[in-house]
Amino acid sequence: MNMGIPQSNSPLGSTPRPDPRLAPLLAGYPADVFDARLHESIGLAETYTLHLAVDVLQRLGAGPRLREPRRAAELAADLGVVAGFVPALSWLLGRLAAAGILLAAPAAAGGGRYQSAGPWPDPQTAALRRRMAAIDGRNLAALDLLDAAAAAYPAIATGSMTGEQALLSPEAIPLWLAYFSNRNPLYAVHNRVSAGDAARLLPVRPGDGGLCLLELGAGAGSSTEALLQELDGRGLLGRVERLLATEPGALFRRRAQRALVGRYPGLALEFAALDIDRPWSGQGVAPASCALVFAVNVLHVAKDLRFSLGQALASLAPGGWLIAGECLRPPSGQVHMELVFQVLGSFTDVATDAALRPRPGFLAAEEWHQALAAAGFHDVQILPDVAAIQRLLPAFCVGSVCGRRP
Ligand SMILES: C[S@@+](CC[C@H](N)C(=O)[O-])C[C@H]1O[C@@H](n2cnc3c(N)ncnc32)[C@H](O)[C@@H]1O
Repeated sequence: MNMGIPQSNSPLGSTPRPDPRLAPLLAGYPADVFDARLHESIGLAETYTLHLAVDVLQRLGAGPRLREPRRAAELAADLGVVAGFVPALSWLLGRLAAAGILLAAPAAAGGGRYQSAGPWPDPQTAALRRRMAAIDGRNLAALDLLDAAAAAYPAIATGSMTGEQALLSPEAIPLWLAYFSNRNPLYAVHNRVSAGDAARLLPVRPGDGGLCLLELGAGAGSSTEALLQELDGRGLLGRVERLLATEPGALFRRRAQRALVGRYPGLALEFAALDIDRPWSGQGVAPASCALVFAVNVLHVAKDLRFSLGQALASLAPGGWLIAGECLRPPSGQVHMELVFQVLGSFTDVATDAALRPRPGFLAAEEWHQALAAAGFHDVQILPDVAAIQRLLPAFCVGSVCGRRP
């Protein structure tokens, strides 16, 4: 089994062309947003997490135990890992099962049992790194963050460290800054898509007054930067009365402020610390005041998604849009960056709800559609048509969740 390792010496020119049926589905975006390099990089990042998952399970000593069928909880007990690590262990097992390295017992036979299909292949992360460097070295920021998470897994598994201690320490912050950056194409695509959709859908009518825009979870400002560029590109900056970029993390917020305020001197660009889990009206956002509520990769961490969507709806003026860039769970059920996020409580400790929020973490396109409709949004749409794209390119997970206040 070669675990999908591409030829490391293949020249860039031999990159397989993406399925031509994708082109019409992505026609609303500039050609350089979804280019061949990006498609190949997404596939390679998927493969990289498979190799890391094999490596982590080997380091935990799971290989010999999986000669016999085991549920994740049984394996966790065998390996002496803490109960809180079982969901992460299940994710690793699922990753290997999807690649055929493990056999997963069908649900009717008890479900959730895994057994090795044969000897495990050796992880080849170094070869994959070289390949990523050849395709687009800027994407190594994603592999660096994945590596840091994988390196911490054994300590997190045994409870000698939490995911937060391992990955949110001051030493780890540069990894996040490099990842959540428009210089990292694997992340920048999320910002470009949702910023482009936001600028296009913004309700701008001649004679209307200035627009108040609200951003949630702005982080260090990469999504704000993308939004400003798109608004500028469409000549809309002059229509902005106020852009309130909010981020609870003081370190990230200050970085965003430093990076952006000087670049847009005439713009009322303000920064504040809004927490989406508490009423927004007490945090500087008047009801019915916003033409746009914009958030990139934020709303899936809402402790209570119904509550936060309700707050977004209440903050919008009639006709205003919520545009939430989200990583959209593909049919395989797994997103490669979950290898990082699933060991962080902010990602996993959310209220679930059988109807609207069946599990923590990323939601699928259809789940977002239902959640926004249930919250009272109109004209709900997921852009681009991610469900159709995922049928052609299963690893595709970039989209904007859009809904309008009637
Ligand atoms: C994935 S980052 C995205 C940052 C930024 N939007 C970007 O694209 O560069 C998610 C952000 O959500 C913020 N966040 C986490 N919990 C939050 C909460 N309860 N309310 C508001 N923001 C939150 C985090 O601090 C983090 O900056």
